[in-house]
Amino acid sequence: MRLMPVLGAAAALVAAAPALAQAKGTATASSPGGIVSVEVSTDGDGRALYAVSRNGKPVIAPSRLGFLFTDVAKIDRRLEITGTETRDFDDTWTQPWGEWTSIRNHYRELKVHLRETTALARVFSVTFRIYDDGVGFRYEFPQQPNMAKTNIAEELTEFAFAQDGTAWWKPAFLWNREEYLYNKTPLSAVSNADTPVTIKLADGTHVALHEAALVDFSGMAVSRTEGTTLRAALHPGAGRPKVEKTGAWNTPWRTLIIADNAPGIYHSHLMLNLNEPNKLGDMSWFKPGKFAGVWWNMIKGEWTWARGPKHGATNENVKRYIDFAAANGIPQVLVEGWNVGWDGDWFGNGNDMDFAQPTEDFDAKMLAAYAKKKGVRLIGHHETGGAASHYEQQFDKAFKFAADHGYMVVKTGYVTDAGQIERVDPDGTKYREWHQGQWMSNHFIRVAEAAAKYKIAFDSHEPIKGTGLQRTYPNWVAREGMRGMEYNAWPGKNPPEHEANLVFTRMLEGPMDFTPGVLSLKGSDDSNILSTIAKQLALYVVIYSPVQMVADTPENYAKYPGPMKFIRDVPTDWSETRVLNGEIGDFATIARKQRGGEDWYLGAVGDEEARSVSFKLDFLSPGAKYVAEIYRDGDDADYRTDKRHSIVIEQRRVSSADEMSLRLAPGGGAAVRFRRIK
Ligand code: NOJ
Ligand code: CA
Repeated sequence: MRLMPVLGAAAALVAAAPALAQAKGTATASSPGGIVSVEVSTDGDGRALYAVSRNGKPVIAPSRLGFLFTDVAKIDRRLEITGTETRDFDDTWTQPWGEWTSIRNHYRELKVHLRETTALARVFSVTFRIYDDGVGFRYEFPQQPNMAKTNIAEELTEFAFAQDGTAWWKPAFLWNREEYLYNKTPLSAVSNADTPVTIKLADGTHVALHEAALVDFSGMAVSRTEGTTLRAALHPGAGRPKVEKTGAWNTPWRTLIIADNAPGIYHSHLMLNLNEPNKLGDMSWFKPGKFAGVWWNMIKGEWTWARGPKHGATNENVKRYIDFAAANGIPQVLVEGWNVGWDGDWFGNGNDMDFAQPTEDFDAKMLAAYAKKKGVRLIGHHETGGAASHYEQQFDKAFKFAADHGYMVVKTGYVTDAGQIERVDPDGTKYREWHQGQWMSNHFIRVAEAAAKYKIAFDSHEPIKGTGLQRTYPNWVAREGMRGMEYNAWPGKNPPEHEANLVFTRMLEGPMDFTPGVLSLKGSDDSNILSTIAKQLALYVVIYSPVQMVADTPENYAKYPGPMKFIRDVPTDWSETRVLNGEIGDFATIARKQRGGEDWYLGAVGDEEARSVSFKLDFLSPGAKYVAEIYRDGDDADYRTDKRHSIVIEQRRVSSADEMSLRLAPGGGAAVRFRRIK
């Protein structure tokens, strides 16, 4: 860690910086490059307000801070600023895996101390970390006589946007958790939204509102109060307040990424930087990579998770998938429905699930040996059906079983409606928790710690939202948390703009297990997926995850040897990432450099309209030669017709001095490998 020399090593929190000309009761500070500024003040009623501007122009107008409690008077008026501290921080750290190897964390911190002027005289601070591309802030309450225990009824933090704009958001507090399509509305028409909410303000400035380091707290949704003002709306607790705390406590970071355009939003590292460093130590045991899966046939309804004549996880099927993986250099195979517990109605009812007890037709020992011989590892699946306490009770045996059979990754799932997670307290009392509540935020930390003991990484479906915790717990390698490919198996498919939405919304949370690569473009009952085949390839680059599924069946892949070559080649771990262009919900082009290699890969996705995307190849090493292996939509490709499989695969010599233009068909995309040659 390198602190700015003026401050000295031990002086982590020091010195009111002279740059802060303070009107009485006002604190201000700006980011290292002077781009983003924060001002904290109190009004005539003693309400504490913060405001954020960028290049001198307001982004967040003065907005309230405060809390409601279930048992004592709220904190929001009769406050005074009693002091401020600032410090500068500049450090570069390394990710064990990710979209970038190296991450710079460069901010100015402003800590504002506040005190109530009432008899309660409660004190707290609000700490702002101000970056050139946004700001994160959190409340910090020290231990104090009048707050031995804290029971939060609601957080009163407001985000009063200074202008209207267009917002991309998904509804909060509805039954299907995070799995809704994005709404695109005026900011002034948002209702209840889960974060991230991404907004293009009227002047073109892009802002993403989210939170970082969601630990021991309830997830923050937002509700619009009036005009363009959103206010925090915490997820409920079950049989207790939304958030319960003892002694000193703080909130997660409330984050605003601010940039000129959509690619600028994606390039921010604020989310990762606001999380604590790796707590798990050596992660060299986790190797990013692709996985095949005994899965798509279940999702399509042709096989079952439960035992019976259509059971998917049979020895024969699993061996066939292992053979397929080995033949294609795919290091892992997911198997679902391999364990006892699926036979009844498992949806929302996982109390029969046993993650150390295979079914009779899944010979775990034999399959582990078979996989090992072929250089493949299995991925165990732990579907909890929302019975999270039941899962916790079998953590040790479940992760031991996985480790004993050579697994490196497990996929977890919490399939039940929102607000229906089963928590069982030590006295046997049952409660129904929210996927995004405080108890679940702690549950996931318990999963990370329990799995890490056995060197197991996990990929959680129906999870709590991503808030950059993969920095602190790098075995939490991916999650779902939005509508993935599975929706393309079912009626009501993802529309062509879905992935161009995801890039600038869901993907700000971190890796997504989207499960790309359904080259057959077929869901259940022979239904058509609303995509071209080239777009399926593009998804391997555009939608980031260190564990990336090769989701279709071996039989289907055998029909498409040309496109399959790209899936074989594309890695899942990157040293560098550049979003070359993009507009939310319209298109996005992303280039990434293979970690530990010299090749670059590029993916471009569009929406329902045909368009061309053009970009410079100046990300390639100057002077070096490359062969661009291009997989693009055929001239007649169209997701609405029987030409959705039309693809052109061609090669071209290129260098960093060149430009490239790719035509995307309706529902289309393109993928390119830039292979460096001598
Ligand atoms: C929903 C998950 O998203 C999917 O991947 C999984 O196969 C099913 N639940 C069953 O666990
Ligand atoms: Ca799901």
